[in-house]
Amino acid sequence: GPLYAVVPAAGIGERMGAGFPKQYLSLAGKTLAEHTLNRLLSFAPIDRVLVAVSVQDPWWPTLGVSTHSRIATVSGGAARAESVRNGVTRALELGGENAWVLVHDMARPLVRLSDIQNLLDQTDSQGAILALPVVDTIKQADDGNHIAATLDRDCIWRALTPQLFPARALHDALQGDLAGITDEASAMERVGRRPALVAGHSDNIKVTVPEDLALARFYLACQLG
Ligand code: CTP
Ligand code: MG
Repeated sequence: GPLYAVVPAAGIGERMGAGFPKQYLSLAGKTLAEHTLNRLLSFAPIDRVLVAVSVQDPWWPTLGVSTHSRIATVSGGAARAESVRNGVTRALELGGENAWVLVHDMARPLVRLSDIQNLLDQTDSQGAILALPVVDTIKQADDGNHIAATLDRDCIWRALTPQLFPARALHDALQGDLAGITDEASAMERVGRRPALVAGHSDNIKVTVPEDLALARFYLACQLG
């Protein structure tokens, strides 16, 4: 079926503290948003890119890429999961019951096309997400700042994006209460599905705090190097 990228981009970037949404910060002469969208647009299997933009966002229309023929916008929501829900709803309207959605944070400008391809190759009908095995030892805290347990690191992964699902299944999983739904897989898990974990790369960072900009610049140079 048709494949739609759904890109939540309606956050305010509070932790970055730039005074405007972080996706409009510049990285090597282009905004983070342009880096992210250019990568998705250059991945041929994606038919259309649906960007969830806040209604009071004056920066989005100033990007040249905002008028690209393969980009459309949907309204952003108060929470990330709501923004994603709006995009997935549009994907179903446009692509019908056989549509698939690839959800990717606008704040992850360094995603590798080869990793997106791996996700498509390795998914089954339950969907799949890019993720990374943790490298640190993981402690579970008690109610305060003391250790209650050490978790088995061999079965702990960090969830990244993109995350790939049949549009209908994700749409239905995103109905109802979205509190605590911080990625698409968690919505699918809640309705009993078991998406696959596909190993990604650690340069696919979510630019979140100011020091991530230097890291993003470094990783970008490495990728181009
Ligand atoms: N996002 C969204 N709608 C929201 C909140 C977030 O579409 N209501 C998007 C962000 O624009 C970002 C992605 O979801 O591309 C990941 O969210 P996050 O990294 O938390 O970005 P912000 O919410 O902008 O940052 P912060 O939480 O620091 O305010
Ligand atoms: Mg946020």
